[in-house]
Amino acid sequence: MIPNQWYAIAEVKEIKPGKPTSMRRVGENLVLWRDNAGQLVCMLDLCPHRGAALSGGKIVDGCIECPFHGFQYDREGQGKFIPANGIKAPVPQVFRAQTYTVREEHGFVWLWYGEKRESYPPLPFFDDLDDSFVYGSVAVHWRSHYTRSIENQLDVSHLPFVHKNTIGRGNRTLVNGPYVTLENDTISVWVDNRVDDGTPPTKPTKMPMPMSPPLLIFRFPNIWQNRLGNDFRIVAAFAPIDDENSMVYVRTYQRVKRPNRLHWWTAQITAQFNRLVLREDQKVVETQRPKIAGLDIGERFIPGDRPIALFLIHRRDLIEAANRGSNARQGAEVVALADAEIDWSVADEGEIRPNLPYDLLPREGNRAVGRSRMKEPVVG
Ligand code: FES
Ligand SMILES: [Fe+2]
Repeated sequence: MIPNQWYAIAEVKEIKPGKPTSMRRVGENLVLWRDNAGQLVCMLDLCPHRGAALSGGKIVDGCIECPFHGFQYDREGQGKFIPANGIKAPVPQVFRAQTYTVREEHGFVWLWYGEKRESYPPLPFFDDLDDSFVYGSVAVHWRSHYTRSIENQLDVSHLPFVHKNTIGRGNRTLVNGPYVTLENDTISVWVDNRVDDGTPPTKPTKMPMPMSPPLLIFRFPNIWQNRLGNDFRIVAAFAPIDDENSMVYVRTYQRVKRPNRLHWWTAQITAQFNRLVLREDQKVVETQRPKIAGLDIGERFIPGDRPIALFLIHRRDLIEAANRGSNARQGAEVVALADAEIDWSVADEGEIRPNLPYDLLPREGNRAVGRSRMKEPVVG
């Protein structure tokens, strides 16, 4: 886990109304519930009295009541009532449940993983995904660490193999570049895969500066977007459960002028298609060992792995910077680090192709391309 970050950990709709909701996230058992004002509260699912799970209890007068001896804790975690001591007895300070700072925005529950603060940085979502979009969503439990789940969605060379019957049709095995940037804790990836015609791929450093928006965008610590068109996106959140498990939340966003039943159905059908594609990824990703991705685990990179390399390098840098109390590096410095640190093996073989088309990029205003994108997203 990278300290001092907002993690999307759940869909808001998973919080049960009027009672505690338990979930395992960020390596802990958590309980989420709403106080009298409807404000979301998140606590360690552990009663400071004798260690029972608070989630087995109920909400009483804006407090959570432990199912074991009926102790009540307010939204700050402070014990308010110990039935065995009588209604008039003050509750000692030591009866205090551990709380986490949480927010609800964009339909996700966000948890601040780090020290409590006076004020917090903004949530790392995609600002352009406003109310003009409708979305359908699926949630899948993967037996993989969330870093492996993220790697998978930054992996631009697996499609013709893992998704050969769905989104990877067309045998575009050869990877030009890809062109990748890292700014403001955001990785942007321009993808240009093609059928292998015997000519070598273009190496990443020789890819020209793209003019179109990136196809893939990843915002640390755990949010991803596949920009299939101006009005059509796939967004995923990779919620850490523990060292061996993660939740993958995938949404299909569609911008519509006046949402109607048909849009809703389209969103649901696309969400089910995403479920199928996710299952193809899941089957492979769950086999990866070691469970946690990293730079020092003896794995090798090819040039097509550049987005993954930047993810791992920046992740390490963010962890180190958080521990130092400073800012992580950004931009070309990180890209240079990847080139210095990683043995790209065949990276120098490629030539520049003239008029590189970036032909998998969605083109604004091109409806035909937009439609084909909907059928064949580039990364799932
Ligand atoms: S264990 Fe929770 S009140 Fe005793
Ligand atoms: Fe995939």
